[in-house]
Order: sequence, then C-alpha cells, then structure tokens
Amino acid sequence: MKIIRAKDYKDMSRKAANIVSAQIIMKPNCVLGLATGSTPIGTYAQLVEWYNKGDLDFSEVTTVNLDEYKGLSRDNEQSYYYFMKENLFSKVNINPERTFLPDGMETDSDKACSDYNRLIANLGEVDLQVLGIGHNGHIGFNEPGTSFEAETHCVDLTESTMKANQRFFESIDDVPRQAYTMGIKTIMQAKKILLLASGEDKAQIIKEAFFGPITPQVQASVLQLHNDVTIVADEAALSLI
Ligand code: PGA
Repeated sequence: MKIIRAKDYKDMSRKAANIVSAQIIMKPNCVLGLATGSTPIGTYAQLVEWYNKGDLDFSEVTTVNLDEYKGLSRDNEQSYYYFMKENLFSKVNINPERTFLPDGMETDSDKACSDYNRLIANLGEVDLQVLGIGHNGHIGFNEPGTSFEAETHCVDLTESTMKANQRFFESIDDVPRQAYTMGIKTIMQAKKILLLASGEDKAQIIKEAFFGPITPQVQASVLQLHNDVTIVADEAALSLI
C-alpha cells in the first residue's frame, strides 16, 4: 500500500489525476473503474483541463462506475450517470457507448446485478479502480457487514449514508433507499486501486481502514489485502496516522 500525501484538496486532485492520466497514456484502451461523490470531482476537473490542453485522449477508454441509485433515470440530476456526464463524460472525447453504470431503472434487482457482473467480466479486467471512502468505511455502496465475497448487488442504504447524501436532495424522503453497487469481490479484482480522501472528517476512518483490523465492519479495510493500492489523501485526512 502506497500513501501519497497531498497538501490540500486541489493538490490531492492533481496527484490523483496524474495517476489516472499515466494509466490512459500507458494503455489508451484501458478500463477505468470510476467513482462518484464529492471527493473525485476535482480529479475529473483536472483530467478535463489536461484533455482541453491536448494532453489526454479518451477515445479508446472504457469506464465502469461503482454504483447507481435504484429508481433514478439517467436524466435525473441526482443519478450517478448524470453526475458522470456533467463532471467528465460530456467534457472529454470518450465514446458514450463505452461508459457503463448499473441500470438504475431496471426494477428487477437480480437482473440489474447479473447484467452488470456479466458486463464487467466481458470487459476483462479493470485496469485502475478509483474509489472514495465513506465515513463508515464503505466503498461503493458496500455498507458495514457486507460479505467480502459479494459481487454486484442491490443494497438498502444505511441511515448514515442516506443522511450524508441528503444534501443533494430536497429532503431525506427524496433520497433513494436502494442502490446497485459493485461488490468487494468485484472491486478487489481490479489490477490497481486508487483511493482518494480529503478533509479532517475522513481522518478517523482512514486510520481504522488502513491501520486497523481487516473486517467486513470496515469495508475498505479489505484493501489491505490488495497488492496494488495507492491512497492519495490530503494532510487533513492523514492527520491521525
Ligand atoms: P464523498 O463520498 O466523496 O462525497 O465523501 C465518498 C463515499 O461515500 O464513498
């Protein structure tokens, strides 16, 4: 596990974007696993900036996102598809047909999940998986206690995750209660993992996840077992280690 210390959010974003860029340059037809949430927004913005300068070419890149809310359509502003379109896909020359997220509008959870598992298996391998980390240690929507063996599955969001996401919705009643997420097993199969963290509010969970016991109660702790993990975090997020 490699920890890259960044000064602040901007520096974290630039350092993370460097790693993603290196992946695209090294392997133009790579498969990127992508994440939503506030943490990677600056990384995507930096990638867009370098793309606009002519330094990056996304034309052969394929992306698979970690998760999507069940019940939100792609044009719903709170859907993760919409987020990805706004922050990255519409701003670079990626082929929209090569950008994948679980199908939030598929009401049959088993079908949505098995379709996504099949899609990822058919893509071969995720070359680089970008991750954020929730305050409870979740990665994707894999909430505490989920089996490390899980592949893509439908989750009932915990109260704390719904509360954390409430800021994006008018009221807590509008926050979807379920989501489709890649499981830990799927995430662990990525060749390389890049986890981003920023802010003092992430310091405690960074300490627990990477310097504490490996336990399903802290989903991100499983990453201690992966052989190519890079954490890019700012000083505030690293302040307890
Ligand atoms: P955040 O979310 O980037 O908005 O803090 C991270 C997560 O919950 O995975």
